[in-house]
Amino acid sequence: MILPIVGYGNPVLKKKAGEIDASYPGLEKLLEDMWETMYTASGVGLAAPQVGKPIRLFIVDASPFEDEEEELKDFKKVFINAQMLEETGEEWFFNEGCLSFPELREDVLRKPKIRIKYQDEKFNTFEEEYDGVAARIIQHEYDHIEGIVFVDRITPLKRRLIKSKLTNIIKGVTQPAYKMKFAQKK
Ligand code: NI
Repeated sequence: MILPIVGYGNPVLKKKAGEIDASYPGLEKLLEDMWETMYTASGVGLAAPQVGKPIRLFIVDASPFEDEEEELKDFKKVFINAQMLEETGEEWFFNEGCLSFPELREDVLRKPKIRIKYQDEKFNTFEEEYDGVAARIIQHEYDHIEGIVFVDRITPLKRRLIKSKLTNIIKGVTQPAYKMKFAQKK
């Protein structure tokens, strides 16, 4: 089932998400719906708050980036209860987009290397290191479960320059091809 993606301006995107355990009701179905929703919207990552659920869960499929980094060909993962342990290296710009911000892309500075602890859909715990595009997508999705969105990471000047675009997203003027739930659409 395709879920509506929550647009910028909805309070759930500003909330720090809570941990879950294996007793979380309907987790399997939620994951199935999130994959379907993400692929329908041509996304490479989707966090539970973006479908209105304030829980520490996000999914990533980096395979569209396999032309740039061959090892991303089969990079498809579920991250539950993730905790960022370390981000290192010299910050680099990467042009990011977000399904909660249709038609908006911005260059965002982040560190290139991360170490993250998380559980998979079977609640097995992993501690892993990532770099490059995989790290970047994970950092963006991890922000969502911390209540941070990518425009929080651009300069105040840049944010002023895109203010009308952000207002159009809040009001649902910017209508993408996928299903969305806008913050202030009448
Ligand atoms: Ni996003």
